[in-house]
Amino acid sequence: MKTRIAAAELAARVMPADAAASLISNGMVLGMSGFTGSGYPKAVPGALAARIRAEREAGRSMRVSIWTGASTGPELDGALAEADGIELRLPYNSDPVARERINKGEMDYLDMHLSQVAPMAWQGFLGHLDVAVVEVTGIRSDGTLIPSSSVGNNKTWLERADAVILEVNRWQNPALEGMHDVYYGTALPPHRVPIPLVRPDDRIGQQTLRCDPAKIVAIVETDAPDRNLPFAKPDASARAIAGHVLEFLSHEVRRERLPASLLPLQSGVGNIANAVLAGLVDGPFYDLTAYTEVIQDGMLDLLDSGRLRMASATAFSLSPEAAARINADMGRYHDRMILRPQEISNHPELIRRLGCIAMNGLLEADIYGAVNSTCVMGSRIQNGIGGSGDFARNAYISIFMTPSTAKGGNISAIVPQVSHVDHILQDVGVLVTEQGLADLRGLSPRKRADLVIQQCAHPDYRDALRDYYARAMAGSFGRHAPSLPGEALSWHQRFMDTGTMRE
Ligand code: COA
Repeated sequence: MKTRIAAAELAARVMPADAAASLISNGMVLGMSGFTGSGYPKAVPGALAARIRAEREAGRSMRVSIWTGASTGPELDGALAEADGIELRLPYNSDPVARERINKGEMDYLDMHLSQVAPMAWQGFLGHLDVAVVEVTGIRSDGTLIPSSSVGNNKTWLERADAVILEVNRWQNPALEGMHDVYYGTALPPHRVPIPLVRPDDRIGQQTLRCDPAKIVAIVETDAPDRNLPFAKPDASARAIAGHVLEFLSHEVRRERLPASLLPLQSGVGNIANAVLAGLVDGPFYDLTAYTEVIQDGMLDLLDSGRLRMASATAFSLSPEAAARINADMGRYHDRMILRPQEISNHPELIRRLGCIAMNGLLEADIYGAVNSTCVMGSRIQNGIGGSGDFARNAYISIFMTPSTAKGGNISAIVPQVSHVDHILQDVGVLVTEQGLADLRGLSPRKRADLVIQQCAHPDYRDALRDYYARAMAGSFGRHAPSLPGEALSWHQRFMDTGTMRE
């Protein structure tokens, strides 16, 4: 098998994963690659988990802190959480084993805006970064690194860490080379300058990651796939939501509030977001662009259909079929995709300048349109805020979407008051469920409440919401955003007590 390590002087640093893992000690902070299940190290974390177990069996405790781009895969978060080896995890997790540990209070989790991770690491108060563990597609002869299927925070980890462990993954398509755009112009104030990107297709950086060769302590060669999970086939509810969004966008074009080719699309994680993209394949829009966080199956379909001209993101998030499709025909997509560091893909300045149309999922929204994306019943973390805050606050139009109920109808996604706030009502422009769409832009809280209940709530919960709102109007301390604090979270309490929000 031909080596992917073209820099001859680095070839001597190749070693097995367990030898690389032995360079990591108890208490270290590790900056790992990985974003939505792509481009994460596949071998060293497992070897580290085995070592943590062995240490524990020998009566010595060992835990590390893990920083990444976003979610990874079972070989990283799953393996390390299973071994109870994670002290602190940031900035995003969707692994079920890690989620369980976090929710049991056994593991600290810092859920952060994804655009802010790299700047905060540079500011220094997240702490010292000991080792970067980064998957790459290859190493060029000049020693620069060809990024993998995600860029995430790798640039920052490689620059900030004392030592670097590289995983060179032969599974990653060599044709990824040239698809990335790594911008090195960021700085902390007072040296910060405008980022020179004015169109989603602009390239402002270089194709590879820099890395001081003196810091590379180990290179592990792997041949392992990304965690590619299938998307659910859009069900009736997802298709209805997609239909409402498409109708809304068409309406905005007719009213000349959006150009015919829309504005750069951002599409969040999950099945609903993917369904909306699938809907756009048959929609009336052409020459679309995407300035988003992840390229998922729907995005690929849009590219294939010719509707989407290009997509800029920081990572792939593909099903196994879509990953196979793209790997078999990378040339076809190569010039129409750009992968950037997440501090650029999610940068508030750029999102505001480009005028992105943000489309994100949620757990629950309240009658005023405030959104909870992260904490079930106010306390149990689902995934994290991810990039939804980066996009929602700065978008041209901020759309949030959800089925109107969860858990077989026992939970209403529209509640009197959200049990945790990720997106304040000012950051939520349009709310969509399968029931309908509420365009909340320009509306006062009271007008929002009427519309949200009417358009978005499930019929089974509409009367109870109206009843609450009417009593809040009568008995509230103030009538700007009427609320009965003693009752506002009673729906959640009822669910926890009885298993349903229904009375
Ligand atoms: N209360 C309790 N549980 C709820 C709920 C609610 N109001 N709404 C949904 N759920 C549960 C679902 O039942 C499901 O549970 P399961 O895994 O046990 O089946 C789970 O939450 C996920 O819901 P699902 O309907 O499959 O949603 P999704 O795939 O569209 O994801 C979010 C929805 C909110 C979890 C997801 O969009 C998310 O993590 N968002 C935050 C990050 C983000 O927006 N990133 C993108 C920015 S670029």
